[in-house]
Amino acid sequence: MAAAYPIVHHEYDVVVVGAGGAGLRATVGLAQAGLKTANLTKVFPTRSHTVAAQGGISAALANMGEDDWRWHMYDTVKGSDWLGDQDAIQFMCREAPQAVIELEHWGVPFSRTPAGRIYQRPFGGMTTRFGEGTAHRTCAAADRTGHAMLHAMYQQSLKARGEFFIEFFAVDLLTDADGSVHGVLAWDLSTGELHRFRAQMVILATGGYGRAYFSATSAHTCTGDGGGMALRAGIPLQDMEFVQFHPTGIYGAGCLITEGARGEGGYLTNSKGERFMERYAPNAKDLASRDVVSRSMTIEIREGRGVGEHADHIHLHLEHLGPEVLHKRLPGISESARIFSGVDVTKEPIPVLPTVHYNMGGVPANVHGEVVTCTDGATDNVIPGLMAVGEAACVSVHGANRLGSNSLLDLVVFGRAAAERCAAVVKPGGKHKTIAKESEERALARFDGLRHAKKGSLPTAKVRLAMQKTMQNHAAVFRTGETLDSGMVQLKKDIEAFREVQVADASLVWNSDLMETLELDNLLGQALVTMASAQNRKESRGAHAREDFPDRDDTNWHKHTLAWRSAETEVKLGYRPVHMFTLDDEAQVIPLKKRTY
Ligand code: FUM
Repeated sequence: MAAAYPIVHHEYDVVVVGAGGAGLRATVGLAQAGLKTANLTKVFPTRSHTVAAQGGISAALANMGEDDWRWHMYDTVKGSDWLGDQDAIQFMCREAPQAVIELEHWGVPFSRTPAGRIYQRPFGGMTTRFGEGTAHRTCAAADRTGHAMLHAMYQQSLKARGEFFIEFFAVDLLTDADGSVHGVLAWDLSTGELHRFRAQMVILATGGYGRAYFSATSAHTCTGDGGGMALRAGIPLQDMEFVQFHPTGIYGAGCLITEGARGEGGYLTNSKGERFMERYAPNAKDLASRDVVSRSMTIEIREGRGVGEHADHIHLHLEHLGPEVLHKRLPGISESARIFSGVDVTKEPIPVLPTVHYNMGGVPANVHGEVVTCTDGATDNVIPGLMAVGEAACVSVHGANRLGSNSLLDLVVFGRAAAERCAAVVKPGGKHKTIAKESEERALARFDGLRHAKKGSLPTAKVRLAMQKTMQNHAAVFRTGETLDSGMVQLKKDIEAFREVQVADASLVWNSDLMETLELDNLLGQALVTMASAQNRKESRGAHAREDFPDRDDTNWHKHTLAWRSAETEVKLGYRPVHMFTLDDEAQVIPLKKRTY
């Protein structure tokens, strides 16, 4: 039994957890709809990881050449290796133009064409006429698009009177006995107080869990806290085996060099100076989808054609673009390259390596943001009181591989859709349902147990590093049954080691050691279901490349994985069908076919 904690009690119509792009877009919509909305965020809103998104947001605006949202839909389905749900993809691509125009009206300072329109650059896998030409579809604010969006949306949230609880860490979902969600338990890092937020709807907008890996473009804060909470509440996570490696993380540092760099004309070379992407993707070349480029780079390195002293990375060339383009279109990455690799991009190539960047998997949700589960392999059931949006969610619009610039789009389209659904189903000031005593006691006991984990012998950082190395070495760009099996053995040891974790100080005020331990608990759960889902999927599709099963197998594996954490080190798997239907006859289903670029 946990020690009794005084708990500060709150009641809201809706609680949003997370203030990145999706959480803020939901908060704006909820507050505008007159719902009493609390946003809980562990970092200051404009420091959320969306701030690091560089290259842009996709939308078929046709500002710089012909375009059509149906071509965008086709590209996204193909990019997903046909694992994306086509109704959801149709929804996202059709909504995209108005979502970007809304951002413009909210003050996002997009770069401009000479005619004054929003500037759009090419991005990987984005084509015109169903694969024939190159689309200029990615709307950019230089290479700081996420930063610009986050600031505009935070300002709009404040204007609409959304309430923010900043530097509040969400500990666990509060449910009733049948699993319906009625609130969140949170810890105020600045005062040490615990807070109970009762709500008619909780929206998880907590981002991805990139920090389960050793080398990631993700911030230290990307620990997938919503996914961790969902697993503990008995909710499965979907398609967790699909982890995206971005082709151009800075070698050694992991920081992102935007795909927009290749969109502006940058290219990759190996130690022979060859533009090797011409061999792997003769049409799209350096602008093939990310999974294809990352695999090609890995093969070049493995076959001895990597660059540098240890022949273990690749060169990204931007020198030929000239200082003017670099300064105007890519100022942020020019600075990152100088700081993190000592490179002057006007003169020399940037050393890069595929680096973990995005989780296609997450909390399963429908196009309204409602969390769904499926226990019979056919029927989706909505979990009352819970929504998930953004990278925390799996809608699934990205399937087995996300196209660059579709993530900023996903955030705003589904953040908005969730707010609209809440406006339809949540009654302002409506009655709250009762939280089961056991649910709160369980959450408090876990929190209290970790807070007082003084006697353990292992610092949190040590257990985290072991997990990160396990994931990096065993569930990487290429996988085999052998690497995944041995990875699972190692990961179970990492989870067992977590029992021995030591949190030296039980203080509740600004205890970053305790916070990182709670975050590690979340990461470990997601790492476990990732490894188990990857072990079981015996095919290659999108970002899941099994060397022992090199082909896509639509007969047996054209389905979504659902993974429940059934015990501390055990996972139960189930599957649900991919939606091969559209919302209406404005778009046709895109039939399965071989994916080449
Ligand atoms: O490369 C980039 O700018 C990243 C964009 C994205 O992940 O969507």
